[in-house]
Amino acid sequence: MIRLSKSVVGKLESEAVARVIENSGYLGMGAVVNLFEKDLEEYIGSGYRCVCVNSGTAALHLAIQAVTRPGDEVLVPSFTFVSTYQAITGAGCVPISCEVDPTSLLLDLDDAEKRITPKTKLILPVYYASNVTMVDAYQEFAKKHHLRIIEDAAHAFGCISNHRKIGSFGDIICFSFDGIKNITSGEGGAIFSADQKVIQKVSDARLLGVCKDSEKRYKGERSWVFDVTDQGYRYHMSNIFAAIGIVQLRRFETEFAPRRRHIAKSYTMLLSGNPNIQLIPMNYDDTVPHIFPILVLNGKREELMQVFKEKDIQFGIQYRPNHLLSYFKTSYALPVTEDIYSKILTIPMHPELSDSDIEFICSIINNL
Ligand SMILES: Cc1ncc(COP(=O)(O)O)c(C=O)c1O
Repeated sequence: MIRLSKSVVGKLESEAVARVIENSGYLGMGAVVNLFEKDLEEYIGSGYRCVCVNSGTAALHLAIQAVTRPGDEVLVPSFTFVSTYQAITGAGCVPISCEVDPTSLLLDLDDAEKRITPKTKLILPVYYASNVTMVDAYQEFAKKHHLRIIEDAAHAFGCISNHRKIGSFGDIICFSFDGIKNITSGEGGAIFSADQKVIQKVSDARLLGVCKDSEKRYKGERSWVFDVTDQGYRYHMSNIFAAIGIVQLRRFETEFAPRRRHIAKSYTMLLSGNPNIQLIPMNYDDTVPHIFPILVLNGKREELMQVFKEKDIQFGIQYRPNHLLSYFKTSYALPVTEDIYSKILTIPMHPELSDSDIEFICSIINNL
């Protein structure tokens, strides 16, 4: 079987986990989490602070809670993983489903602008398929409309825009380190910001809202006499997860990023010119692609999915638009998003995909 995605982990990660188990006497959140945060801050650069949590969804939830009040409206593309939406409603806010641009598949700012009301407090763009080409436009939009901006950069760890790493500029940036992301910590996520108030809020909220408990945990201590001033959750990262993340980060620039770029460039070379396929135009020198979506035109998607099934090749449909889900249903249609949903297909993308796998997958697509 050719897998759509997978965790690429091995001896180094298991040795790191073994060290935590055998040496530390504590598997929960402690010094190793602090080390991972420091490593991430150093990698992203620019002095932005980082807070690690136990998922990308938790990162988004805490970030949203830190800058909104219940009832606030959040501009968000419907075309995203359901995590983005659950994080918004989890914080008591209202997702305002917006269209995406039909070429980049990213949040369409003209559509978003029409949906602004006095209750709009936040714009939450998603870097779908690691495409960060709109980052400056989003920052300008937020500034123009006096909105906070949280970037859902779950797909975009390691991506670069105008020589700056995603996470090293802007307002608040959230990453995911789940099992199949550009780096994994098993499960996990991180919030980056230069806003010290936000950092303190999310840092407390990840530990049940116990004020300044993180600093104690890093030293192997606990707060016994404490105050709680806000809603919190058990969202902190464990030393086990952090140990895996530290190793993955070390492997990222030399192993994972170049391989993911190579796969995306190979797909682009082999599939461009195919009249049944629309690709997302991207510069893969600056991007570390987490997924590789294609739009299958001329009503050929069903046929392609059938052949993939017969040949034991996994595929994905990323994503079912959230405004079509019962819990987030809108009273209005989003025709561009719905059209994309009828054509989108993600094909295998992970660092262990071989060149012959890539050629085999493309030969099937090109034989449609
Ligand atoms: C666009 C997007 N946002 C948020 C998340 C949430 O990340 P996690 O799975 O770590 O909770 C994901 C995860 O797949 C995602 O794809």
